[in-house]
Amino acid sequence: MKVLSIETSCDETAAAVVEDGRRLLSSVVSSQACLHGAFGGVVPEVASRAHLELIGPAVQEAMARAGVEPANLDAVAATIGPGLIGSLLVGVSAAKAYAWSWRLPFVGVNHMEGHLHAAFLQDPALCLPAAVLLVSGGHTMLICMRDKGDGAPEYFLLGQTIDDAAGEAFDKVARFLGLGYPGGPVIEREAFGGDPCAVAFPRGLAGAGYDFSFSGLKTSVIRYVRSHPEVPVADVVASFQEAVVDVLAAKTRKAAGEMGAKAVCIGGGVAANFSLRARIEKICSEDGLQALIPDRAMCTDNAAMIGAAAWYRLKVDGPTPLDVGADPNLALPLVQRGA
Ligand code: KG4
Ligand code: ZN
Repeated sequence: MKVLSIETSCDETAAAVVEDGRRLLSSVVSSQACLHGAFGGVVPEVASRAHLELIGPAVQEAMARAGVEPANLDAVAATIGPGLIGSLLVGVSAAKAYAWSWRLPFVGVNHMEGHLHAAFLQDPALCLPAAVLLVSGGHTMLICMRDKGDGAPEYFLLGQTIDDAAGEAFDKVARFLGLGYPGGPVIEREAFGGDPCAVAFPRGLAGAGYDFSFSGLKTSVIRYVRSHPEVPVADVVASFQEAVVDVLAAKTRKAAGEMGAKAVCIGGGVAANFSLRARIEKICSEDGLQALIPDRAMCTDNAAMIGAAAWYRLKVDGPTPLDVGADPNLALPLVQRGA
């Protein structure tokens, strides 16, 4: 089954063709980072206008690279939320129009479920139960993914951020230091030359359950830099990155142990971070867990992960009615605590 998938929830205009939810035939990502960089963050109106211009060419390019015509496709999918409403609407409207005109089923996909499914493009054989860490610019969630018994997995939320998302902390610290946007990649680059033990920044909510907090860490970095202007930026950002990775990795490890996980899976833009990837790999090899770490390109926003999740959703729920709307606050279909 070949799915054409579209992702426009934030500032990447992306299209992909994925076969059977696992085999990537093409993935096109048109980044708008240069348009938003001057403003230090995503400008929603600029993003939706750029999506309008880029979506047609991105879809054409994805189909051409995959060598498929509309007649070879089995479904058209798009991210329906969460995300910026103006941006989501462009991708959802385009996908519905393609689906309707080509007489194909439409599949609406949750963006975070897409991030989770990115790992399956890497390694389709995930052992359940798995501890899943989803870390993006808007979300930080620790999830238990387990087998419902009928072959379909279900998600159970263990914890999430009570303030800033991990990626948001990278973006805000980078903006304060004048390093540019998006913050994650520039901080990572700068941190390579720094000492991660130079400054002992706080580890938010360390040891207190599975929720996260990054707002205090961000404020600590800002205060520290104002009072210690002589300390090299590389040392500051390496120490900041170390604090984020410490908390993410420690809570993921604890969750995996307590739930008897067989695997750890990570996803979302922050999962592209070398330091986090190395730490998760180390934990998994020490604890005898399968590590599911998507390619870096599959961690940041892309449409291939939406195609992977769409294939699964189509199998479980069937096509999504064409009157479904884009939902900027769409939540993951989670099982309630204690269930
Ligand atoms: O998943 P994503 O592409 O978009 C959202 O769904 O939000 O994640 C973007 C976030 C941004 O905050 C960006 O700074 C962060 O992921 N990010 C990184 C890295 N690459 C992107 N954070 C740390 N290290 C990276 N290499
Ligand atoms: Zn994302």
